[in-house]
Amino acid sequence: MSFICAANWKMNLSFQQAQDFLEELQRKVKDLDISTPEKSLRSALCIFPQAVHAPLFQNIQNINWGAQDFYFESSGAFTGQNSPDLFKELGANVMLIGHSERRTLFHESESSILKKIKKCFELSMIPMVCVGETLEQRKMDLTLHVIKEQLESVMIALEESSKASTDVIIAYEPVWAIGTGLVAEATDVQKVHDSIKSLMGSKTKVLYGGSVKPENATELASIPSVNGFLIGGASLKVDSFLGIFKNSK
Ligand code: PGA
Repeated sequence: MSFICAANWKMNLSFQQAQDFLEELQRKVKDLDISTPEKSLRSALCIFPQAVHAPLFQNIQNINWGAQDFYFESSGAFTGQNSPDLFKELGANVMLIGHSERRTLFHESESSILKKIKKCFELSMIPMVCVGETLEQRKMDLTLHVIKEQLESVMIALEESSKASTDVIIAYEPVWAIGTGLVAEATDVQKVHDSIKSLMGSKTKVLYGGSVKPENATELASIPSVNGFLIGGASLKVDSFLGIFKNSK
């Protein structure tokens, strides 16, 4: 299993900055081995840009990319929504679903997450589904319970779409570690990742997210059940994004 580094740009980078990022990235990955043996992936790198950035990715063949969020219908009277089919048309292959900012700030429900996962399968794209507990839930020792509940939509979608657990990627992001500089203890990350794998299957890719940066990447990447990272703040500069990738090897 190759180690995946996924960039979640969130609502950052101007159009020009995104274009510059991609040019610099293409130049710098020439000196790196970003290949992956997995047929469903283009390489070990993945980017989730803003929807308006999508045309910049149209001719990018060596990097996985897709939406940070999208609607579960292909088209229709849904003002303000982004069609997953348009991402597909531009070449997207991995779609982010259920990020904690979507769940908390925009009230994303489990039923909509379920529909989005199924839509991804329908379009032959890979869903990357985020799960994670809040600080309050953690303090109440509810972490594994919450994760199990969030994974239910994933299991239902897999079953209803006749897909295998290797067709989905899970990103474990403790909500309290996102953008805060706080990182979960290695033993806690391992415990949660192990429990996700015991529910989903040992071959399911499980990424860790929450304040990952070049400085802590080596330690986190050495946890056996961590198969990659979902990176927010530290993914906005090519050197720090690739620094994380290099330090994870
Ligand atoms: P962060 O964000 O790396 O800035 O903590 C991670 C994420 O939200 O995916």
